[in-house]
Parts: sequence; structure tokens; C-alpha cells
Amino acid sequence: MSYKITIIAGARPNFVKIAPIIHELEQVKSEGATINYRLVHTGQHYDKNMSGSFFNQLKIPQPHVNLNCYGGSHATQTASIMVEFEKELLSNPANLVLVVGDVTSTMACAIVAQKLHTKVAHIEAGIRSDDWSMPEEINRLITDSITNYFFTTSETANKNLINNGISKDYIFFVGNTMIDSLLKHRPHFFAPPIWNKLNLIADNYMVLTLHRPANVDEENRLKFTIDSILAHSNNIPIIFPVHPRTKKVLERLEISYPKLYCIDPLSYLEFNYLVENAKAVLTDSGGITEEASIQDIPCMTLRDNTERPETITLGTNVLVGMDPIKIKPHLARLFKGQWKRGQQIPKWDGKASKRIVDVFLELQKSEDL
Ligand code: UD1
Repeated sequence: MSYKITIIAGARPNFVKIAPIIHELEQVKSEGATINYRLVHTGQHYDKNMSGSFFNQLKIPQPHVNLNCYGGSHATQTASIMVEFEKELLSNPANLVLVVGDVTSTMACAIVAQKLHTKVAHIEAGIRSDDWSMPEEINRLITDSITNYFFTTSETANKNLINNGISKDYIFFVGNTMIDSLLKHRPHFFAPPIWNKLNLIADNYMVLTLHRPANVDEENRLKFTIDSILAHSNNIPIIFPVHPRTKKVLERLEISYPKLYCIDPLSYLEFNYLVENAKAVLTDSGGITEEASIQDIPCMTLRDNTERPETITLGTNVLVGMDPIKIKPHLARLFKGQWKRGQQIPKWDGKASKRIVDVFLELQKSEDL
């Protein structure tokens, strides 16, 4: 009998994380494995820029179903995903529901699955910022508290889970599927239109991304952050692909700087081309700190904490903090050429998805799945 895995993807970073797992599942299927998957898009992200282009470029097959649950407050979004996913899972039962990362879709679908007595596997389990004001931290805590199989990206995540009483038998330290995607697609990165439009030169511009509620929802804070960056950026261009959440606030702010270029969100291959050639990246995203570290590009995190400490101890990331005043000394150090270099991060080697699917095959054999 074939084992059925339902894979959940809802928001932009999810697509990057599931793509290599799907390709690995396709590979073992073509070699005769009796594993089938069903891809469920919750609809949390729906724009072409936030979703469609990722499916095309990362060669993710069209989802079997789209639950079309977008917008609304966190509670509304969680509730609508739960209602729709419950119908979906009842109509198409699975042996395992695979959730990735820390977005609302991750938590909502894990709850539904476990209540329907379907086992849950969580990719990127165990990471913790210990900051309960972040919606993602709540999503991680809830998801991990009802997960059966924990797939981890770091020793820190393993320790966090063990400290929470999880048995080692259920923790699989496999590496990072986001880095699988990065390494696989690196040869195909290409310049976005802004590159030629501004005649950008490698190592002579910076990339900025901001989307966390704590950074962007309040107009004055967002303005202060942008002011501080622009005041100390040595007059080089700042390319700012603006997340939809941030756009809403930015539109209310009347700001204009000659060297700040606000553009629509970029596709995966274009965004990473910009990162790969940048002087530095300033961001409040977790995933981008991982990608910048592997690309050996200086990275400044505009947050007070991170759930990805290895990007700091081994990677190129530095925790600048939320206070915009703190940006200045870090930019000064960057322009003096004093940034640390990235080192290898254990198991971030492009093989995480293979390790994950190997575990599925083992679980299937032991009929534990
Ligand atoms: C979500 C995730 C966050 C992840 C981020 C990546 C949660 C709690 N947060 O945050 O962890 O880092 O995605 O992008 O799940 N919108 C659009 N078009 C879209 C998508 C969203 O206009 O394609 C709008 C929504 O309608 C909403 C706002 O942007 O008003 C925020 O979207 P939402 O999915 O709630 O959270 P993100 O801030 O994107």
C-alpha cells in the first residue's frame, strides 16, 4: 500500500523549503518507492510576486488544491485555514501531514491533522527566539507541541527539543532545505530589471527587506529605521523590495530619498542574484540571514533576537537590534571592510531533502508512519 503524505505550503518561505523535498519524493517515486504526496496551498500568500513566481522558478508542481484562505487577522486566517483544511484532509486522508517553518498555515494545519489522528512531521522544528511577541514563535511552540517527527536544521534546535522532553528517537538532524534550494538554483540566478536600470555594480549597493509587524506596522518606527540606514550608507544605492504588509504602511509615509529604491517583491532567482552581489543585506527575515550566510554576504538583522543563532556564530549575520540608533556602528564597520567571513554550517550542504525522504522511507518500512 502506498503511503500518503500531505504537504502544506502557505507563504513565500514555505515554497522555498518544500520545493527540494517534492523533487526528492519525485525521484524516489521514479525509482519505485510507494510514496505519494498531495500538495495543499493554503492560499495565505497569493500574489504572483509572493507565490506564483516561486512555483514557476523552483519548479514546484501545481498544488492539488488551493484553500484560498488569505488576508484577515491572525485568528481569522488561522480559523479559515483550519475549517478548509479539515474538509480537505477528511476527503483525502493521509498517513502523514508535513508542515514547514513557522507561518500561520504551519500551525493551523498541524492542529487539524493531529485532531484527525494524522501524524505530523515538522521541517525546521525546534528553533526558538523565546520572543512571544512574534507570531512565528507562537506558531513554532504550538506546532512543535503536537509534532510526531521533528526535522531540524541545527544542534541548537535539537537541544531545545530535548530540553522540552522530546525523545531523541523522533528528532532527525537533517540540515536546511532552504539551503538545498539555494545551492541548487544558484547557477540560475539572474539580474532583475533594476540592475540595468540603475547600472548597479557588485559590492556597491545594499539590499533591505522589512516585513515583521514589530518593525513595519508603526509608521514612525519604520521611518526612523529607514532614516538611520540612509544616513549611514555612504550614499550607495539601497534596493528595497517591499513586502505587501510593509507597502501599506510605506504608502502612508511620505518619504523620498535619492538613494532608496522601493520596488515590488522580487522573484526567487532575481532576489538572490541581488543578495549574492550586494555589499550587505539589512533584514528582519530569518530565512534571508541563512541565505546570506551561505553566500558569504554581510548580513545585519534588525531584530533583538534570532531563532537561528548559527547564522551569527558561524555565518555572516550580526544582531543589530530593533533600535535604529544601533545601525550606525555596524555600517561603519562594514565600510571599513571589517566584516566577518561565513564558515561552513553543519549539514547545510544541499542534502537535507534527501535525508528527510530517507527518513520517510525508513518510517514507512518500520510501519511507524
Ligand atoms: C508571513 C509569515 C512570516 C513570513 C512572511 C514571509 C505568519 C504569521 N507570518 O508574514 O512568518 O516571514 O509571511 O513573507 O504567517 N498580502 C498580500 N499579498 C500576498 C500576501 C500577503 O497583499 O501575496 C498581504 C495580506 O493580505 C496581509 C499582509 O500582506 O494584509 C500580511 O500577510 P500575512 O500572510 O498575514 O503575513 P506576512 O506579513 O506576509
